[in-house]
Amino acid sequence: MLSRTAAFGHALRRATLSSTAVSESPTVISFDGAEKAETFAAFFDQGAPMWASMLAQANKVSPEGVPTKILDLGCGPGEPACHFATYYNNVPVIASDIAPTMVGLAEARAKSKGLGNVETMVLDMEDLSPIESESVDLVIAQMSYMFVPDKDKAMAETFRVLKPGGVLVANVWVSFELIPIAGGLMSAVVGAPSAPPAPNPNGPLSLADANVFDDYLMNAGFEFTSEHNFEGTFVGELGPLDDLQSFKMAALPVWDALTELEESGAHPDAWEKAKAAFPEVAAPYVNEESGGVTVEGAYRLAVAQKPMKSV
Ligand SMILES: C[S@@+](CC[C@H](N)C(=O)[O-])C[C@H]1O[C@@H](n2cnc3c(N)ncnc32)[C@H](O)[C@@H]1O
Repeated sequence: MLSRTAAFGHALRRATLSSTAVSESPTVISFDGAEKAETFAAFFDQGAPMWASMLAQANKVSPEGVPTKILDLGCGPGEPACHFATYYNNVPVIASDIAPTMVGLAEARAKSKGLGNVETMVLDMEDLSPIESESVDLVIAQMSYMFVPDKDKAMAETFRVLKPGGVLVANVWVSFELIPIAGGLMSAVVGAPSAPPAPNPNGPLSLADANVFDDYLMNAGFEFTSEHNFEGTFVGELGPLDDLQSFKMAALPVWDALTELEESGAHPDAWEKAKAAFPEVAAPYVNEESGGVTVEGAYRLAVAQKPMKSV
């Protein structure tokens, strides 16, 4: 629990940083590159409650019997693929991601868990052509649809590979405190924007509005199940304020932007400035009990089904 002082700081920080949400041009956010992927991997196990809730919701709506093939889209370092592969230990699970570094981490994770039923693939959600039409019973995707530029295409591809009656379980952020922290780091480099920046249509909050995601699902032909739009909350620790790894995690949403500012020469010290600003920007998020920076979030889970007879 946050102390009263820290909680007050939290509220204050939320208010002051709401206008400095990550400045986002409609650029594609990449998760590739060893350092970035490993920074993400160091914290991503904290998403375990989310992939557990994904399995619970999938089990509530899946048609009778055990699935014969599961596909994880945007698996990052290997989840929720490995979680599902552990539960359904005789069912083939494809763990896929567009970033080869992530696929390498997923392969290592499946191996370290002794999971012989996980196959890894580099796959772009917009083009699942290596996967046969109507060959998958269950598609799972944790926090990945938001980053795809052509979401209609990704959804159409998801629909295509599912069998009639097959289920899609996908979660997206509704809110996430990492975003204002990253916005604060960016402001420390380029200055606070005079007006709130337009949200990035390919950013972590791009599907925060349920109507927007529901439209993509309906346009592709999906029907909503009884569990559709289940909501949950997330709490994660970045680590101590003076820790380089905590800073790098906080910088993930603006990683490419900082690198671009540095490489273009516009702000040759962008990373150094962001790092110097981190202790002040993240201080209001320190949980006094753990001493670490704690970020909260809310997510929503789409639980949709391909109609038994596709139209
Ligand atoms: C926030 S991470 C989520 C990773 C993992 N599912 C988890 O639960 O932590 C988003 C992942 O989506 C992947 N991704 C982004 N765009 C993609 C695309 N077009 N096709 C496949 N994967 C994509 C990224 O490479 C990244 O690994």
